[in-house]
Amino acid sequence: MANQIPYKTYVQSAEYIKTRINGFQPEIGIICGSGLSCLAETFERTKAVVKYDEIPGFVRSTVEGHPGQLVFGDLAGKRVVCMQGRFHCYEGYTVQQATFPVRVMHLLGVSVLLVTNAAGGINPNYEVGDVTLIADHLSLPGIAGANALIGANIEEFGLRFPSISDLYTPRLRNIAARIYLTNPSLREDKGFRVHEGVYAWCYGPCFESRAELRALKTLGADLAGMSTVPEAVVAKHCGMEVLAMSLVTNKCVDRREPSSLDVVAAELAGQPLVTVAEQFPHHEEVMAAAAARTPVIQEFVRSIIRDI
Ligand code: HPA
Repeated sequence: MANQIPYKTYVQSAEYIKTRINGFQPEIGIICGSGLSCLAETFERTKAVVKYDEIPGFVRSTVEGHPGQLVFGDLAGKRVVCMQGRFHCYEGYTVQQATFPVRVMHLLGVSVLLVTNAAGGINPNYEVGDVTLIADHLSLPGIAGANALIGANIEEFGLRFPSISDLYTPRLRNIAARIYLTNPSLREDKGFRVHEGVYAWCYGPCFESRAELRALKTLGADLAGMSTVPEAVVAKHCGMEVLAMSLVTNKCVDRREPSSLDVVAAELAGQPLVTVAEQFPHHEEVMAAAAARTPVIQEFVRSIIRDI
């Protein structure tokens, strides 16, 4: 099958990593989203750091804000491997390449995957700096064929036709919700709000058009982002529990653009329309919003990992 990565390539990758981590056996994997790589800085003990460009089968992260290494160590009393930097399909990688590290984590013994990302808020109640637990996803690229499970099924990983109905594990979402609801210091002192919603995977790298955002909203999406779904699907396929959360880094603009007919008709009538300057998203804004929320997200994730 064209483009398919054979099972033995995943095994070689895991075997190489084992030679670098001296018997350390991670139980939880974390994938850090844009600007959230700092999670690895909160480890109590760092056991090993392995750069992606040293690992057979790994591609390189080409995005600013994604360092490109695996960090192994202890976090909140658990053995963790943290991906500092992830691979996106918009970088030109296939879905199989982008999700390669998840299967390697599985081969290393990881059974719980925690994924963070930066996303645009489609739901009008979401504000920049809020966190949303992903309850479900809307994957238009996946429905149309951008699915890492396409090709001959690798039985060692999982079933040919997996169900993804409970992909975002209720047990883990409940742990996160309990921490938020029983922790006034997170809720009140830091003005930190947690929602639960539906994440729409958009292939990127363009931010979505206004019409696309209106369509996604109509379809039930609360957030738009360019990652997470491929990794989550592959994790579920190989039997992992998955918790994914988005940091809202910008509010999506889905208002219609002013009609040129209205604009010109108003000009002709001598009463030019007053138009509102819209705030469209840009990468610097995304990174700044992530940086501003770093400490509270570190605290939130640490508490979740402690309770898993
Ligand atoms: N759309 C898609 N991906 C994103 C956005 C957005 O508005 N913000 C951060 N990642």
